[in-house]
Formats: sequence, structure tokens, C-alpha cells
Amino acid sequence: MSRVVVISGGGTGIGRAVAEKFARDGDQVVVVGRRPDVLDRTAAEITAAGAEVKVAALAADLAEATEADRVRDVLSERYGRVDVLVHSAGGNTALDVPPAQASPAEQAAAHWTGNFRANVLTTVLLTESLRDLLTAPGGRIVLLSSIAAYRGSGSGSYAGAKAALHPYAYDLAAALGGRGITVNVVAPGYIAGTEFFRGALSPERERTLVGQTLNGRAGTPQDVAETVHWLASPAAGHITGQILQVNGGAERGR
Ligand SMILES: NC(=O)c1ccc[n+]([C@@H]2O[C@H](COP(=O)([O-])OP(=O)(O)OC[C@H]3O[C@@H](n4cnc5c(N)ncnc54)[C@H](OP(=O)(O)O)[C@@H]3O)[C@@H](O)[C@H]2O)c1
Repeated sequence: MSRVVVISGGGTGIGRAVAEKFARDGDQVVVVGRRPDVLDRTAAEITAAGAEVKVAALAADLAEATEADRVRDVLSERYGRVDVLVHSAGGNTALDVPPAQASPAEQAAAHWTGNFRANVLTTVLLTESLRDLLTAPGGRIVLLSSIAAYRGSGSGSYAGAKAALHPYAYDLAAALGGRGITVNVVAPGYIAGTEFFRGALSPERERTLVGQTLNGRAGTPQDVAETVHWLASPAAGHITGQILQVNGGAERGR
């Protein structure tokens, strides 16, 4: 049966690959992000590539509660339910160039607040808004963390924000388990071909990241999409409250 699949951050990168995977399966996919032009283009391209059902685009800043509630209202009216919720919205806001005159404390405040909003609030607010729309039993929630939650991220703010998602996922899995809904986290290592590094990843840094893997290659958005898709399948029905790392073994490091 065709499922209603909502993917935050579905306009680009990993979220887009997840959207492609579900759309090829005949599911009704809704991609959510802040930039309407990006979402519309992605939705049109995936649909044109052979999706059985037209992919829908919904623009919203998910770090704002009112926006998450607006997304809920639209989904409720249009579909009446959500079968799969994938949270790919996020990124490392500490990669943004700080204002020239910012003090170290002001920079830290911007990094920690920015990463909390981008990674924690986008996930928590949409989840809380959609909680009672989730199909039960059988609903699926998948959060996107990062290898940074295990290895750090430079300033710590991105890693800390991703790490905060882990206990949230455990609590959510406990709260929703009785309704037959699973909640899991996928924590990727370095994934090439997304907007994450804003085109500013140096060849040297990329070599380092690939060198940390045990299989000697960068991850792809499709690597992550396959894992998310499986976690959302009936075959993974007894897996909940777990964090699955997709990183070619890089957490072990070299
Ligand atoms: N690439 C990697 O190496 C890597 C590794 C580990 C984890 N991750 C995580 O994987 C997820 C996907 O990242 P990616 O690599 O695919 O990067 P990406 O291409 O930059 O995707 C991030 C998406 O999140 C959306 N987004 C950001 N803030 C949002 C907000 N406030 N409201 C709604 N949407 C928002 C962005 O769209 P708009 O700008 O249009 O809103 C964008 O489509 C992120 O959570 C990232 O932290 C990535």
C-alpha cells in the first residue's frame, strides 16, 4: 500500500535521496525545507524521473513552532495521516562565516544557538506537531544524527546538537512503542554530494575524512537512503530506539 512519507530537508542531499527511494516505491512523498524553489525543482525532477505518485513540496522553517504546526495542518487536511517521518533537515551552522566584529563568546552563542535550532528544534518541533497524525500501529520515525556525535565537530556545537537527538529518540521510542511506532536514528559519516559543506570542503580535508573509513570511500546519499528505507520497512518492525551508524567504519577511525 502507498504510504504517506514526510521528509524534512528533502529538497537536497540525503533527504532528496531518501525522497527518491520512497517515491520509486510508489509512496506519497512530501518534501519540506525553507527554500520553495529548491523544493519545487526537486519534487518536479523526482516526479519526472518516474515516481508513481507526484512528489509534493511544502516550504517551512521547521525551527519555528508555528511553521511546524502549519505543516501539520496541511498534512492533516491533505492526507489525514503520516506513515513515515524522516528528519533530514539540519547541518552545521558553525560553518557559516561569523560577523567580523563578533567576540569569542558571541561567536560561540551563534554557533550553539544556530546548531540547536537547525538540528534539534527542526526535528523535535515537527515530531511533536505530527505525533497524533502518525499511523498506529506501523508508523516509523527516523532521525538523522552524525558521526560528529561520537567524534566531535570542531566547535562542539554541531556534535552536541546531534548528540541531543539520541536521548530524544530513546524517550520517543518508549512513548510511542505501545502504539506500534518505531523510532530510530541514522548517524552518517562523511557523505559526499550534498550541500552540507557549502562547496567549501578542501581536497585535503576530504582525503582525511575518506582516510578515516575502513572501506576507503566517501559515503553517498544513497547509502543513507537505503538504510532509512529499510528502517521504515515492515522488515525492521522489531528495531526501535537504536542508532545505526553509516560511515564505512570511520567511527573506529584510522
Ligand atoms: N553530508 C554529510 O557529510 C553528513 C554527515 C552526517 C550527518 N549529516 C546530516 O544529514 C542531514 C542532511 O544533510 P545533507 O548532507 O543532505 O546536507 P544538505 O544538502 O545541506 O541538507 C540539509 C537540508 O536541511 C534543510 N534545512 C536546514 N534547516 C532547515 C530548517 N530550519 N527548516 C527546514 N529545512 C531545513 C535544507 O534546506 P533549506 O536550506 O532549503 O531549508 C537542506 O535541504 C543533516 O541533518 C546533516 O546534519 C550530513
